[in-house]
Amino acid sequence: MIGQAISRVDGPFKVTGQATYAHEHWEAGQPLYGFILGATIGRGRITLIDASRAEHSPGVRKVMTYRNAPAQGAPDESIPSLYWRAQPVLTNPEIRHYGEPVALVVAGTFEQARAAASLIDIEYAVEPGNYDFATRQDQSYVPKVVNGRMEAETSVGDFDSGFNSAAVKVDQRYTTPYQFSHPMEPNACLAVPRGDDLILYVSAQIVDSARASVANTLRIDPERILVVTPYVGGGFGSKLGIHSETILAALAARQLNEPVKVVLTRQQIFHLMGLRPTTSQRVRLGAGKDGRLVAIAHEVNMYTSPHEEYAEQTAATTRALYAAPNRWTSHRLTPLDLPRGEDVRAPGEAPGLLAVESAMDELAYALAMDPIELRIRNEPKVHPETGIPFSDRRLVECMREGARRFGWDQRPAQPASLRKGRWLVGYGMAAAIRMHFQGPAKARVRMCPDGTAVVQSDMTDIGGGTYTILAQVAAERLGLPIDRVRVEIGRSDFPVSWGSGGSWGAANSSTAVYRACEALREKLLASARDKSEALSEIVARNHPEGLEAEGEIVSMEKDPNYRAYSLNTYGAHFAEVGVDVDTAEIRLRRMLGVFAAGRFLNPKTARSQLIGGMTFGVSYALHEQAVVDTRSGAFVNRDLAEYLVPVHADIPELDAVLLDGFDDKANVLGVKGIGELGVCGSAAAVTNAVFNATGVRVRDFPITLEKVLPGLPLMEA
Ligand code: MOS
Repeated sequence: MIGQAISRVDGPFKVTGQATYAHEHWEAGQPLYGFILGATIGRGRITLIDASRAEHSPGVRKVMTYRNAPAQGAPDESIPSLYWRAQPVLTNPEIRHYGEPVALVVAGTFEQARAAASLIDIEYAVEPGNYDFATRQDQSYVPKVVNGRMEAETSVGDFDSGFNSAAVKVDQRYTTPYQFSHPMEPNACLAVPRGDDLILYVSAQIVDSARASVANTLRIDPERILVVTPYVGGGFGSKLGIHSETILAALAARQLNEPVKVVLTRQQIFHLMGLRPTTSQRVRLGAGKDGRLVAIAHEVNMYTSPHEEYAEQTAATTRALYAAPNRWTSHRLTPLDLPRGEDVRAPGEAPGLLAVESAMDELAYALAMDPIELRIRNEPKVHPETGIPFSDRRLVECMREGARRFGWDQRPAQPASLRKGRWLVGYGMAAAIRMHFQGPAKARVRMCPDGTAVVQSDMTDIGGGTYTILAQVAAERLGLPIDRVRVEIGRSDFPVSWGSGGSWGAANSSTAVYRACEALREKLLASARDKSEALSEIVARNHPEGLEAEGEIVSMEKDPNYRAYSLNTYGAHFAEVGVDVDTAEIRLRRMLGVFAAGRFLNPKTARSQLIGGMTFGVSYALHEQAVVDTRSGAFVNRDLAEYLVPVHADIPELDAVLLDGFDDKANVLGVKGIGELGVCGSAAAVTNAVFNATGVRVRDFPITLEKVLPGLPLMEA
């Protein structure tokens, strides 16, 4: 059962509309609708706010501003993750970023609330803000830690002398833009008061963080809050924590003692969610003529909110990727008056590998060496910074297998040398690596006398396939057909997990379910007869009310394997692009990823995640960027018409090949995370293919045609 390509058990619910998303719960009756009004300045303070016209607008029940909002808890920085901290809103007249909530209007319908919000009169004292990353980088500082509690700076050997002595050098700067998660389902909350208690139907990746954050903000006992999030229409980081939509819905519901629903518009997501920081990355590679690296440096500068520090671990994968005796990685933060940074789709690894794997391609070109051969020559035997062994490192195997399947030997050795009709055609590849994380998680399994089982955890399914893989694990360990296992997740009254994030959800929760099943079997063994019988028969005979057990996985800090080994997942991406000889229009022609991540619980859901991640990579290379107006701090292209993401026509043939395995250092199931692996390196493969097609190296992402066109060789059309 484990390892089989089973279709999603929740699929029929989704395609028949029975899967209920946050704003679709009707069991509490007709709700009120809240609309968030955002500031139209980037920095300053409100000098006048007059809601009287709005309050008398049809259907309006309440207008909440800083003048009448309830007192709230402040963020406690001793809580390690910002997603668990309080997130107070409407606390004072200060404006710290464009779009920051200045009012919540609650009315009978969404349209009434939005119309009334436009009638709130506000005057601001505008202060000059800092919005331009390009001109503020000299203001940067080194943070104490970066995301994932990793070191901000690392150094091995002597980078400067190593680099200076190198025969062949690459020294380039790469810049990556602001990006937003943008799940299909916008961030939403329906808050239902029940006396002093509160039910929150939210769209959340981590139930525990949602509950903690609301409890800390509203200063109420978390036990009084029930978070419900059975289906989540994508998260990509933006739902690791809740935001103002949930806090404001909760505050209003308690004040009015009625259900209140707040859903963000697509445009609002551009200012009310955290975003991926823009980066400027300097990568220096020094190698001998044989291609062996003697020095690697990856220095990252990125923006942060001055109020809530966030540092993507952009240089972190560089620490484990290639061997070199002299090394240096660093992260710096440049404060800007923008919404806070947050995790977005492979935080750190996506922009970091884009830079480093572009630089490796540049080095291969400088050496006139095949890019795969260059990487193989620099494959480390142990972790190149810490010296500890890798568990289950299969990068070279991914590259070789990918090269064979993709037909890498057909790659034109010289850039801009292969032409097919109007198209200059090029091949590119890049390596993928991502750390595997393990967090604490619990699950409960109940066996019923009728031969069914129920799995319960506060784990979420954000589209990755949690329902299916947990059912597979329980079915296999309990000896049941999969349709006899019911998976119940996404409720805060179930055993606590750390949800879906950091690509750890599947490995964490499937291990917890496995352990719960083992514990259940232990209990049943005591009352088993001395013959083979189904577990359900033992339950029916001895436990007419059913029997349950819990299972648990501890955090990586408490697991010695995670100190003794470097646990990562690996892959190799291959891309073929065509670039129009006249217009520099770039078209992906095909793409292949080959991945090794221990055991694959379900190759079907895994492949879907991986091709989704690869598609993000295409997006990073060619499409996606949020553009800030450096006068106001507003993101100007704030809708999906102008914030480009790939559509079907942009993604032709794309496939992911899974090299199944078993990482015995990771967990008892041998499983590692894959949620973000497909995002890692995929953008660089596309970038390197554009170079191979044209001879034009773009280092400022995304690669748009106006950046390629000036360098395009003149050719007959
Ligand atoms: Mo992920 S960016 O941890 O949802």
